[in-house]
Parts: sequence; structure tokens; C-alpha cells
Amino acid sequence: MSALTDSPAWNALEGHKHAMADVHMRDLFRKDPERFRKFSLTVENILFDYSKNRITEETMGLLFDLARACKVEERRDAMFAGERINVTEDRAVLHVALRNRSNTPMGPVENGAPTNVMPEVNRVLDKMRRFSEAVRSGAWKGFTGKAITDVVNIGIGGSDLGPVMATHALAHYADGPQVHFVSNVDGTHMAETLRRLDPETTMFLVASKTFTTQETMTNAHTARDWLLAAFEDKAAVARHFAALSTNTEGVQEFGIDTENMFEFWDWVGGRYSLWSAIGLSIVMAIGMDQFEEMLAGAHAIDNHFRTAPLEQNVPAIMGVLGVWYDDFWDAQSHAILPYDQYMDRFPAYFQQGDMESNGKHVRLDGSRVDYQTGPVIWGEPGTNGQHAFYQLIHQGTKLIPCDFLAPAESLNPLGDHHPKLLANFLAQPEALMTGKTTAEVAGEMRKAGTDEATIEKLAPHRTFEGNKPTNSFLFPKLTPYTLGSLIALYEHKIFVQGAIWSINSFDQWGVELGKQLAKFILPELTGESAPKEHDCSTSGLIQAILELRGK
Ligand code: F6P
Repeated sequence: MSALTDSPAWNALEGHKHAMADVHMRDLFRKDPERFRKFSLTVENILFDYSKNRITEETMGLLFDLARACKVEERRDAMFAGERINVTEDRAVLHVALRNRSNTPMGPVENGAPTNVMPEVNRVLDKMRRFSEAVRSGAWKGFTGKAITDVVNIGIGGSDLGPVMATHALAHYADGPQVHFVSNVDGTHMAETLRRLDPETTMFLVASKTFTTQETMTNAHTARDWLLAAFEDKAAVARHFAALSTNTEGVQEFGIDTENMFEFWDWVGGRYSLWSAIGLSIVMAIGMDQFEEMLAGAHAIDNHFRTAPLEQNVPAIMGVLGVWYDDFWDAQSHAILPYDQYMDRFPAYFQQGDMESNGKHVRLDGSRVDYQTGPVIWGEPGTNGQHAFYQLIHQGTKLIPCDFLAPAESLNPLGDHHPKLLANFLAQPEALMTGKTTAEVAGEMRKAGTDEATIEKLAPHRTFEGNKPTNSFLFPKLTPYTLGSLIALYEHKIFVQGAIWSINSFDQWGVELGKQLAKFILPELTGESAPKEHDCSTSGLIQAILELRGK
């Protein structure tokens, strides 16, 4: 037994779960008309309603006891203080400094003393402003003297997903060059993107923290070849390439002028990097003022997370609720369901954000966990998802806690589209919570004149058990500020859960083995070396590929 599962706080929750096993939320709502007031709160302009969860005040009290026993607040304070909480990489975790709009000193602890990275953070932000304004205004000219019309971000994982998500989410505010994203090493991604572009008016942003990632470097070289094929002059690279990276040497080696390099630092995790220079593609699309609004929205949540008591702390509540379902109700996944088409990549963004952070089975002390950690994160925008996978959420055998997110106002108020969207945003959590009993189904069918034999046959299929947990997030409309706040809420939720599970949410060793093996296999496919010994399945597949490709 680990210290966690053996702790009084954990045991109390286990006992409480048994007491709650047969409690239906429908009855909790019926008994307490104050439930919404008790279990909802507003942070910044986001109303967070968590009343449709399998909780009572006692549940929340026990969950906060667990969070306190796991020293969530101390660990949060250590993060903000710049302590090296990413212990396996000996790094501080300070993406909060990138959006520290109040400019209070903040930085990693070096040799036991605090440092201040704010001057550096502000210097890069200023450089991003100058560069993006030159490109967006047309003052920056390409090699043949034409203004830039298209920007291609070349990156993958955290150097892609955040900018993709945010440029989709904030497309309404876009007034700069067209921004494209190439991430996959599959040549199709680059080929299909370049097909529509003109080298004279295209700028590439090579986004890579390490500047060694195979996919990104392969795509960057292909883009450079494409450019040089058009201009036959290496001087063109300086007018059409910029780098977003922590690796100055790698950038120089690639041939990008460090004048066009936008730095960030090892205390910024890849999946937390959209606030850094990695956000330059977002800036190209919406401008620096709007990007800084996004930073401000996140900073406001940082202040909330840092100062609010757990009982009124939205990321803490989101975090403990997740632990409640993950560890005590055996939920395996968590759905993020934005009722806003602009947020279509929000769930995919937090697939990396959450799963790369908390997909761990080893505790900070090196021992194996004896409890569940990070859930599978998935989701699609509503209402599309309703016509695809909601069936399983309503009537399947798996418990899937869901987050519903929606703006009260649409940025595209077309006819009655938005009231219809919102009606669905409200109806689904209500249906998931309330359900419909067999007696209710039978009553409805009887009223419609259905005979008793048919009722008996069909009623079980039409019954909804309900009692399915959901959170709802309602905000006035989707702005850069609100998007920044929403992202920060989820980031800190992930932090809270990692702290409770006593895992390091800031490394990602699990992605290494596959990368290593791919490097080993590549020369076997290109004919540079003879196939080596693998398991017979991998060897069989290599042989089949070589035969199919006539090698
Ligand atoms: O997939 C592993 C990973 O290291 C992610 O954490 C990161 O976001 C991505 O690769 C890209 O890394 P880089 O920015 O160094 O190219």
C-alpha cells in the first residue's frame, strides 16, 4: 500500500464512496433547491457549475482534506516560487512567469536563491511585438520585396497543438497573414500545405523547444529546400525563416539568423509553451495586443489559483472532482465538450496537456502507484458529438465525467442558431443527470397510445439511468482573455491532480522509447543497413514494407 492509499483522507473517501454508491443526483437536487448556489462559483467572467456531480458537502470536504493531506497548496506555492519541482529533469516549472502581467519578480531558484526572469520574458515579448508588427503591416519584405501573406508554423506536440488550438479559437479576431500548421512527418502534410503557397510571400516559423525533434527538423529542411529551389540564394532564408526555440546553437546550425530567433527557456514545458515565443504564430494571426489579452486572462487565473482557498478555487475543485471519479468510481476517461465551433481543437490540446502530464505510473519517490492516475481525455464540439458518441455517455456501461463549455453570446449571431446551440448545451447535462426512469418511459408510451406488450418490450431500451456527472462552464463570449483564462484553469487542474497523485506532471519520458526505436529502424527501411534483429512481428512488417516498396 502506498502512503496515499493508506492515508486517513483516502480511507475516508473510500468509505464515503460506499455511502454514495446508491445516491442519485436527481434526489440530491430534489432535496436541496440551493444546490446550484452551493456548488457553483464565478471566476473572472466564467461561471463554473459543478452541482451536477455525485457529491455532497461532505464529499467536497473529504476531497479537500485529501488535497491538503497531499500538500497541494505547498506544491502550488513551490511552483510559483520557482523551485525545481520537475525533479526528473531538475527544472523549475514557470509557464506562469510568461503571463505574469503584474511583473512581480519571478524566476527559478538557482543555488538556493530566487532569480527574476521577468526582464528576459518582457524582452522576448517586445521582440515578438516588433517582428509581428513588421510582418503584419507589410513592412517586412520577403526576398523579392513582396509582403508576407502566409505564415507556416512548423512544429509538433506542444510546439503545434497550442498555436493550432488558439488560432482556431480566436479566428474571429484574426486580421493578419493566413497562418498554416505543418506538424506530421508524413510528407503529405507539408506537400498539401506548400501546394497552395508562394515562396515569395511565405514565412516559416520553425517552432521547437529542443530544435532536434525529428518531425520538425525534417519538415523545416523540406521547407528550406522548397524556398531555395525558388530563389537559388541562401540569403533568402533570413527573409523567410524565424525560429522559436531554447537551442541557439541548433538554430544557428540550421542557418537561421539569430536576429530572427525568439527564445524561451528550459523552465517552460513543451505542453505549456503557447504563452512563450511558441505563440508567435498566434500573434501573427491576431496581433500582439490580443495575444497579451490572452496572457492577462491566464494571469488572472494564476492569481486566483495561487490565493483562493481550496473551497473556492476552481482548478482545485476541477482537480479533486477528477480524482473522485478516477480513483473512487473507476472512471477511465474524461470528455471535454465545447459548445463553440471555434474551440474545436480545445479537447485535442488538452489530450497532450493532460495525458502527457499525468499519464504516469511512477511516483516522485520512484515507487509504482497503486491507484489510477490521469484519465484518457477526449471530446469534440457540441452539437456534433451528440450525433456521434453521446449515446455511449448516456446509456453505455462506462462512467464518463464530462465538461460542457459554452459562450452565452455568439460571435456569429445568425438567426436562432445560438439559442438552439445553448438549448443543447443545457439539455445534455440535464438529461445526463436526471435520466428517465422505466416508469416515466412507460407513462409516456401509454399516453401516446402504445400497447402494454410493446411498452414492456421497449421501455428498458428507452430508459436512461442518469446520475452521470458533468461540469458546466459558461462565459459571456469567446475572447482572447476568456480563452487564456480557460486554458489556465485546465493547466492548474492538471497540476492539482499531479500533486495528489504524487507524480511529476512535467516530464514525458514515455515518449522516448518509440523515438529511439524509430531512429534504429530508419536505416533498415532506407537500405543504409541490413534489417537487424527485432521481434518476429516487427521483422515481418519490415520485410513486407521492403517488398512492397520493391527494395
Ligand atoms: O512528444 C514529446 C515532446 O517532447 C513534447 O513534449 C513536445 O511538446 C514535443 O515533443 C515537441 O518538442 P520540441 O518543441 O522540442 O520540438
